[in-house]
Amino acid sequence: PERAHRDADGRLVVAGIAVTELAERFGTPLYVVDESDARARAARILAAFEAAAASVGTTVTVYYAGKAFLSGAIVRWVTDAGLGVDVCTGGELAVALAAGTDPARIGFHGNNKSVAEIERAVAAGVGAIIIDSEVEIERVADAAARAGRVQRVRLRVNSGVHASTHEFLATAHEDQKFGVSLDRAVELGTRIRSHASLELLGLHCHIGSQIFDSAGFAESAERLLAAHAELSAAGPLPELNLGGGFGIAYTSADDPTPIEEIALGIAEAVASGCRAHGVAVPKLAFEPGRSVIGPAGITLYTVGTVKPVPIDGGWRHYASVDGGMSDNARTALYGADYSARIASRVSDAPPALFRVAGRHCESGDIVVDAEYLPHDVAPGDLLAVAATGAYCWSLANNYNHVPRPAVVAVRDGVARVIVRGETEADLLARDAGLDASDAAEGA
Ligand code: LLP
Repeated sequence: PERAHRDADGRLVVAGIAVTELAERFGTPLYVVDESDARARAARILAAFEAAAASVGTTVTVYYAGKAFLSGAIVRWVTDAGLGVDVCTGGELAVALAAGTDPARIGFHGNNKSVAEIERAVAAGVGAIIIDSEVEIERVADAAARAGRVQRVRLRVNSGVHASTHEFLATAHEDQKFGVSLDRAVELGTRIRSHASLELLGLHCHIGSQIFDSAGFAESAERLLAAHAELSAAGPLPELNLGGGFGIAYTSADDPTPIEEIALGIAEAVASGCRAHGVAVPKLAFEPGRSVIGPAGITLYTVGTVKPVPIDGGWRHYASVDGGMSDNARTALYGADYSARIASRVSDAPPALFRVAGRHCESGDIVVDAEYLPHDVAPGDLLAVAATGAYCWSLANNYNHVPRPAVVAVRDGVARVIVRGETEADLLARDAGLDASDAAEGA
């Protein structure tokens, strides 16, 4: 988090607590989330989109994309800040509802929702179900009809724009599983309208993730607006949802455009597209996940072993920590870049090339691929890896029977567990083959 600093002893302090104290109290690996930082990010993102929407004469709804990191506490932080919540499974829906989210402020996504999930979402009264395929139109319409309700829906359209960081690729059809193709948006939107149990709010698209500027969103919006205009001519179409994907800095090499500028860029592109098509600027909606929670999280690890390995022209030092791809799969999965620092002390030893590795039985188990750390990194040092708030806990797994770490929220010098860590006993308890009764069966 931006507010982290060092105390007089060189220990990293987050939200008023030295991380050494957190490690002692809660153990490592440990996910730490700066609550004030997360709340402030949610508020800033909402304010940025509200200002941008107002500048083109419209309004906006911002949903927090729960897939980034969903827990009861986090749901309350983002809903307190005025965001809705986006979910994409029955499990995520259950968390959002249990945490007290107003169902009308929940959006329900997914490219393969079960009928049972659709029925739950309808019964809960979610504000919108995002229809992702042709076959889902009747599924949602029938579920709503059985429940005697009119369900509001959005139609997810694949705009053919795929974006990440500074680049976007625009094709006629993007080759991926989400949404319906742009050339069928009007036909399928019209079909949605033919069902008395459905109300079409608008079109939706999501073009990618970790995007640093507004160009891809602008291109995608322009493409959607032709279909939006055509559908608007036939009936009310109050909204346009442009998804999430706003990037964050993982290392000093990342320099995303401030969200205020991105929001304005998108709003202006929508407004000019609407002028060109002669339609009113719709109400806008966005679904940021990573940019709300990512920078607010760090992960603490304890170094267990350090091993110099000869490489071309020198040495690479492997510092192995007590977690790894089970608590942060992103490096192994996407080649993601992170940065690490010694968090328990400062060192003036000269820098050396390190690779922070995990404890799993796999050489791809890397947390930070390349980082210059003080040469004297040693067993017992605490390492902090920055910007792990998004898609780390949510992608966590039990590879090698490693229990998932706890999540601790820190605020004004106070730390509290917001998600209990797993224990080995938790993992063994689910293994039915270890039951005495099962053993008897086998005997
Ligand atoms: N809306 C929809 C429909 C999405 O599919 C996503 C993310 C979001 C919103 C939120 O995107 P964000 O603002 O967080 O970028 N596990 C990958 C990221 C997967 C994103 C999937 N969809 C990662 O760790 O990089």
